[in-house]
Parts: sequence; C-alpha cells; structure tokens
Amino acid sequence: MLNIGRNRNQGRPNRSMSLGMGSMDYADPKKKTNFVGKIILAATLTALCIIMLKQSPNFSTPSRFSIHEQGVTHVLVTGGAGYIGSHAALRLLKDSYRVTVVDNLSRGNLAAVKILQELFPEPGRLQFIYADLGDAKSVNKIFSENAFDAVMHFAAVAYVGESTLEPLRYYHNITSNTLGVLEAMAAHGVKTLIYSSTCATYGEPDKMPITEDTPQVPINPYGKAKKMAEDIILDFSKNSDMAIMILRYFNVIGSDPNGRLGEAPRPELREHGRISGACFDAARGIMPGLKVKGTDYSTPDGTCIRDYIDVTDLVDAHVKALEKARPKKVGIYNVGTGKGRSVKEFVEACKKATGVDIKVDYLPRRPGDYAEVYSDPTKIKLELNWTAKYTDLRQSLAIAWRWQKSHRNGYGTSRVAA
Ligand SMILES: NC(=O)c1ccc[n+]([C@@H]2O[C@H](COP(=O)([O-])OP(=O)(O)OC[C@H]3O[C@@H](n4cnc5c(N)ncnc54)[C@H](O)[C@@H]3O)[C@@H](O)[C@H]2O)c1
Repeated sequence: MLNIGRNRNQGRPNRSMSLGMGSMDYADPKKKTNFVGKIILAATLTALCIIMLKQSPNFSTPSRFSIHEQGVTHVLVTGGAGYIGSHAALRLLKDSYRVTVVDNLSRGNLAAVKILQELFPEPGRLQFIYADLGDAKSVNKIFSENAFDAVMHFAAVAYVGESTLEPLRYYHNITSNTLGVLEAMAAHGVKTLIYSSTCATYGEPDKMPITEDTPQVPINPYGKAKKMAEDIILDFSKNSDMAIMILRYFNVIGSDPNGRLGEAPRPELREHGRISGACFDAARGIMPGLKVKGTDYSTPDGTCIRDYIDVTDLVDAHVKALEKARPKKVGIYNVGTGKGRSVKEFVEACKKATGVDIKVDYLPRRPGDYAEVYSDPTKIKLELNWTAKYTDLRQSLAIAWRWQKSHRNGYGTSRVAA
C-alpha cells in the first residue's frame, strides 16, 4: 500500500516539472490541479487504509484469543502438534474449549494442527503459534497477547534412550522450559496447570503396583528432568493460588478411533522408539523385524511388563483433571490401566492387530530396563472418577494400525493403503 502511494507521488513531480517549464501562466493552473489531485489521492489512500484495517480481524475487534470470555475456557496446549498434545487438542475442541497450540515443530507435525483447524474452522476455536518454549521473550509475548485460563504442558523431548545420550538437552527442554512456562503463568495470572509427567519418575520401585506414594527415584535423565520439573511446580504451589494437576502417564499407545490423528515420530527417532512404533515398522517391512531385549526377567514369560494406556483414555484423564482442578490444590495421579502386559503379549496383540506375522528376535537384556512397571490407578478413579476404557491391547493397536497403514509417511504424504 505504501509503495503504491510513493510511486504515484514520485511520478507527479516529474511530470509537472516537464509540463510547467514553459511559462508561469501555464504553470499556475497546473499547480492548482496538482494540489487538488494530491488531496484527492491522499483522501483515497487514507480511505483505503481504513477499509483494509477495518477488514483485518485485529482492528475493529480484538482477537478472541486475547480476551477472557464468560463460559469459554481457553487452554494453552504446549506441544499440541505432537502425538499426545494433538489428541488432547482434538478432545478439548470437541468439548467446546478454546485452544491455542504452541509448538516449535521440532518433533510434532504441523499437518496434525491443520487437520484440527479444518475440523474446527470457526473463529476463536483454535490458533497455532510457532514458538520455542526455551525462548523466554517469545513465551512472555504469547502470555501477554493471549488470555489463557489453563495450560496443558505437553511439550517435551520424551525418549529415555535419547536422554541418556543427551542429558543436558533433556534438563533444558523439560526442567528449564517448565520453569519458564510456570513463571509466565504466574506473571500473567493463569490459574490452572495440567502437567504431563511420567512413570519414569518412579525409577525401579521394589513394590508393584506403583501408587502415587511410591518413592520417586528416577534412573535416567528423562525421569530425573521430569521429577525436577515436578519439584519446581510443587515448591511453587506452596505459596500460590494456582490449581495444579500432575499426571504421571504409563506407556501410551493407540490413536484417534476416528482415524484423524496418529503417532508419527520423526524417522530419525526410530532407534529410540517406543514398542508400538517398532511393531508397526516391523509389520510394514520398514524394519526387518522386532528386537525384544531380555527374556530372563523374573516375570511369567521372562519379558518385561508394562502398563499400556490408550491415548483416548489419557486425554480423557486430562479433561477430567481440568474440570476438577481447584485453586491452591495440587492433585497428583497415575494414569495407567492398573494391568501389566508382557512384551510377548504386546507383540502377539500387535501381530493380530496388523495381520502380519512379525519376525521377532529375542536378544539379551538392554541395560537400564526394569522388569515390571504397572500402576495402581485407584486414586484417579476415586478423585477424578476416571478409569481406562480402552484396555483391549489388540483393539487399541488395531485402531493405531489403521492410521499407520493409511499414512505410510506419517503426516508427510497421507494416502489410503490399498
Ligand atoms: N508417549 C508416551 O508414552 C509418554 C509417556 C509418559 C509421558 N509422556 C509425556 O507426554 C508429553 C507428550 O509426549 P508425546 O509422546 O506426545 O511426544 P511428542 O514428541 O509426540 O510431542 C511433543 C511435542 O512437543 C514439541 N516440543 C518439544 N520441545 C519444544 C519446545 N522447546 N518448544 C515448543 N514445543 C516443543 C514437539 O515439537 C512435539 O510436537 C511429554 O511431556 C512426554 O514426556 C509421554
């Protein structure tokens, strides 16, 4: 717009100079015409600017995301382009929450956010902000420009194996960024935090099942970084009105039953990957087979036992936690099924779900793996009225497999498999 104005103004002086050189008599009326023309031009440009500004959503009305609206809860979902965060955003949107996703896309998928935007295109439902939570200035700007009622803090790097190789990255990304988010929440009066923690904070407890009172003795940087983040939140809570819910997830599997979202980690993270991803990769032939590490644990079939929680149940726990969060109160909950399944059981379920006779190699133990981990979900049932519903491994894996089959390149290029 300014460029157009400048070009026209530059053109006129040149033209009037060449026409007006002959005589004063001739030049005078021309100057008058030029003067009137300039006024008309200026008025036209001003009118144009006003129309354009008025059409911009930020001019006449402030963005809906920047004002608290009665009856609308605005949730900041950090890491909302990732696996669990995108499923949580979908559930929140379905339940009429207003959602802002903040993600640096280091591990998440913009395509997942686009799917959500297509499902909920109405103004004031969903916005995406590309930002790194390690950048305090950006975080502060986001909080000052938006009126959040609550934060679900999912954003994190989240691979145990990777954390042993790059511990500083984990402490920075998890512990230090959580501190930054908490500081921004406190500075801008955001009243509710739902924090994504993990059973890795318990380490290798002697007694099963794990309750919320089981001592937290994490044994890898991932678990330690999350435990430190929890400690920061808990110390802060002692002198704050904030409503806080800390959810310690067990092993998350599955995907949206309607097939809109799935789990699509970066290919380079495959080596650190989770068991469901490894099974699917083997079933698709991306990997030659599955390597099960350790068959001599003191468990019924000798393989490790874990508690697999379906992502649909997990996000339900978040919504229940959000609904039940109260000022000055801290709730800490295990989110698991309460049932341990062995790796062998998991692989069998995956074979059935995919219909592929996955080749399995049984190898010696991997250092750092513990034999048995499963939750006691009594507290969350009693206090939040939450129980896992998707407890059929095969069914959860079949749902996830449907998405995997139709998204051979993750969110990259989606197509339906023949
Ligand atoms: N997946 C599991 O089995 C599991 C188990 C226990 C706990 N958790 C926790 O759940 C949360 C979500 O995990 P996920 O499996 O969805 O992982 P994910 O990698 O799929 O998603 C994490 C998202 O956070 C984003 N992110 C990372 N660092 C960021 C930063 N500095 N700024 C902005 N965005 C950033 C990534 O781009 C990604 O979109 C994590 O906090 C994780 O520790 C996951």
